[in-house]
Amino acid sequence: MKVASAGAAAVAVLSALTYSYANSAPPFTLPPQSVYINPLSYNVLGPNATWRNNTYTTLFNPTNATPPFFQIFDPSFATLLGPSASLNRVALNTSFAFAHEAPVWVPETDEVTFTSNDGGALGYSDWSHNSVVSKISLTEAEAAIASGNPNISITVTPLNLSDAIQMTNGGTGTYYGNIILVTSGRALLPSSIALVNPSPPYNVTVILDNFFGRQFNSLNDVKVHKPSGNIFFTDTSYGYINHFRPAPTLPNQVYRLDPTTGTVKVVADGFVRNNGIAFSNDGLTAFVTDTGTTGFDTNQTLPATIYAYDIDPVTQAFTNRRVFAYADSGVPDGIQVDADGNVFSGCGDGVEVWNKEGVLIGKIYLGTTSANLVFAGNGRLVILAETAIYVANINLQAQSLVYP
Ligand SMILES: *[C@@H]1O[C@H](CO)[C@@H](O)[C@H](O)[C@H]1NC(C)=O
Ligand SMILES: *[C@@H]1O[C@H](CO)[C@@H](O)[C@H](O)[C@H]1NC(C)=O
Ligand SMILES: *[C@@H]1O[C@H](CO)[C@@H](O)[C@H](O)[C@H]1NC(C)=O
Ligand SMILES: *[C@@H]1O[C@H](CO)[C@@H](O)[C@H](O)[C@H]1NC(C)=O
Ligand SMILES: *[C@@H]1O[C@H](CO)[C@@H](O)[C@H](O)[C@H]1NC(C)=O
Ligand SMILES: *[C@@H]1O[C@H](CO)[C@@H](O)[C@H](O)[C@H]1NC(C)=O
Ligand SMILES: *[C@@H]1O[C@H](CO)[C@@H](O)[C@H](O)[C@H]1NC(C)=O
Repeated sequence: MKVASAGAAAVAVLSALTYSYANSAPPFTLPPQSVYINPLSYNVLGPNATWRNNTYTTLFNPTNATPPFFQIFDPSFATLLGPSASLNRVALNTSFAFAHEAPVWVPETDEVTFTSNDGGALGYSDWSHNSVVSKISLTEAEAAIASGNPNISITVTPLNLSDAIQMTNGGTGTYYGNIILVTSGRALLPSSIALVNPSPPYNVTVILDNFFGRQFNSLNDVKVHKPSGNIFFTDTSYGYINHFRPAPTLPNQVYRLDPTTGTVKVVADGFVRNNGIAFSNDGLTAFVTDTGTTGFDTNQTLPATIYAYDIDPVTQAFTNRRVFAYADSGVPDGIQVDADGNVFSGCGDGVEVWNKEGVLIGKIYLGTTSANLVFAGNGRLVILAETAIYVANINLQAQSLVYP
């Protein structure tokens, strides 16, 4: 009895503290287009809550704000957004998933290239049909944003690439002035890594299309490790899952291509379905996403997880794997790390942002899936959202992906 009432009193005090803290004004000035959600305000939902049963279809939006907006969980995200943050949709085609993956910013032209969905919904690509690589001009996007037009629709220009490019899924650059694309391959045509001239005639040079004579499963994403200049890429089974490639014949792995010697080696395995890849700005830490939740079916007991690794200074094998973060909505797909160590990944509700300790500090909440994003210089983020592209102007310090 005594124990019980002491316990009840303790709970009452705790909930009173929780209540007052949760309902206090945000301890910072709220940036434009943002909402603050104090974690203490939702940590206890009680027995009658409406639970989220499906990570894809029921998203976390406790303030019921209308997307797009910034969702702030930690004051540091308000600092990252800055006092004049903005988030604008700049392109839309509701009938075509033209903006799926492989975003690359080309500083010389201030353009961003990207690819349509390969094999998935609204992608209009399959075993017999290729996906489409396109570009937008950020100069045009910025002018449209500055005009105050609430319904921006900038030009999306398809690039006429060589048939060597089949089902693009990843990209980075620029690399010696070129875009690097990784392709999943299509049907019996192999996966490849290719250099693409970002200007007309957009000519292509394939630099890898096999592993000692064996085809890759379906290459997914790529980054250049700047301290060494080596090219790291992920191979996984989505070409087969999306019905445009034969059954996998290799494990799902991360590889390193040394472009000088041409050697290719495996640096990480042990994934369900590895996907995006990124390095910290100092090149000491590698991040690989595992989108195991998404297979032929959704299985929420499989990873939606970002792993961090050390990079062995001699072998460049990815070592000391640890969980960096688990995404609460959908799967963490493409991934980018800013100069301060914040990690951005395209997830089921937009872009989720973790600080370098792996704490979710905020989201660029779109209410729909983003597969990837790219920094376009300091303060600018271009977010692919399948049938739409968004530009966020925020206070971030970008990591430059330009090499050398
Ligand atoms: C939950 O709902 C039931 C039935 O409506 C109600 O009796 C109970 O008081 C509610 N519990 C809480 C904690 O609100
Ligand atoms: C979640 O699952 C429970 C148990 O199956 C069900 O009662 C509830 O209605 C579901 N909630 C939603 C939002 O679908
Ligand atoms: C959307 O994409 C489809 C397929 O490429 C194209 O036919 C259509 O013109 C596009 N619509 C707009 C508004 O751009
Ligand atoms: C927005 O622009 C698109 C394309 O320019 C047009 O089809 C659509 O009707 C516009 N929507 C609104 C609400 O003005
Ligand atoms: C696209 O490139 C091919 C050669 O790769 C060329 O034959 C064709 O004319 C080009 N089409 C356009 C529209 O530029
Ligand atoms: C494109 O063609 C030019 C002229 O032949 C060549 O110098 C350049 O290396 C090519 N780029 C690629 C990526 O193939
Ligand atoms: C989900 O994945 C787990 C782990 O691999 C497996 O045991 C389980 O059978 C899967 N569930 C379904 C419904 O496929």
